[in-house]
Amino acid sequence: MIIIACADREWGIGRGGDLLFNIPEDMEFFKTATRGKTVVMGRKTFDSLRIKPLPGRRNIVLTRSESFSFEGIETVHSLDELFSLLENTPQNDVFVIGGSNVYRQLLKYCDTALITKVSAYGKADSFIVNFDKLSGWKKESASELKNRNGTEYQFVKYVRQ
Ligand SMILES: NC(=O)c1ccc[n+]([C@@H]2O[C@H](COP(=O)([O-])OP(=O)(O)OC[C@H]3O[C@@H](n4cnc5c(N)ncnc54)[C@H](OP(=O)(O)O)[C@@H]3O)[C@@H](O)[C@H]2O)c1
Repeated sequence: MIIIACADREWGIGRGGDLLFNIPEDMEFFKTATRGKTVVMGRKTFDSLRIKPLPGRRNIVLTRSESFSFEGIETVHSLDELFSLLENTPQNDVFVIGGSNVYRQLLKYCDTALITKVSAYGKADSFIVNFDKLSGWKKESASELKNRNGTEYQFVKYVRQ
C-alpha cells in the first residue's frame, strides 16, 4: 500500500477538517498517481470531500458507523474488513489518502509514501509521521524545489528499507 499526502514543514496535514494548502500541481500529482486505483480514507477525510467519491477511482471509506452509506463508496468498519475487501487487489494499486488517524493505523502495511512537502507552516491540528526521522524508511527521490505564489514545495518519495 502507498501513502499519499501533502505535509507542511512540521508534518502537519490538516486544520479544522480541511487541507492546509491549495496547490494545483499537487492536486494534479494526486489525480495522476491514483487514477484507476483504489483509494482508502477515513470517514472524516471523506466528509472533507463534501460527501462525493473521487471520480475514476475505487473509493473505500473506513467508519464505525453502521448507517454510513453513499453511492460510489465501499464502506468498511474495521481493518480486518478492509483487508478482506482488498484480498484480490494488488498492494501497489492501493493508496492510503488519509487522514491522520488512518495514516497512523495503516503505516505498517505501507512500503511507499509519496509526500508533497511544503516548506511553509500551516498551523495544523492533524499530522502525519515525520518520514525523515522514521526508522526503517529512507528518502528515495525528490523533485526540484517548486514555487507557487511564494509557497515552496517538492515531491518526495520515501520507501521502506
Ligand atoms: N494533507 C493531506 O494529504 C491530507 C489527506 C487527507 C486528509 N487530510 C486532513 O486530515 C484531517 C482528517 O484526519 P482525521 O485523523 O481527523 O480523520 P480521518 O483519518 O480522515 O478519519 C477518521 C475516522 O475514520 C474512521 N476510522 C478510522 N479508523 C477506523 C477503523 N480501524 N475502523 C473503522 N473506522 C475507522 C472513523 O470514522 P467514524 O467516526 O465515522 O467511525 C474515524 O473517526 C482533515 O483535516 C483532512 O483535511 C489531509
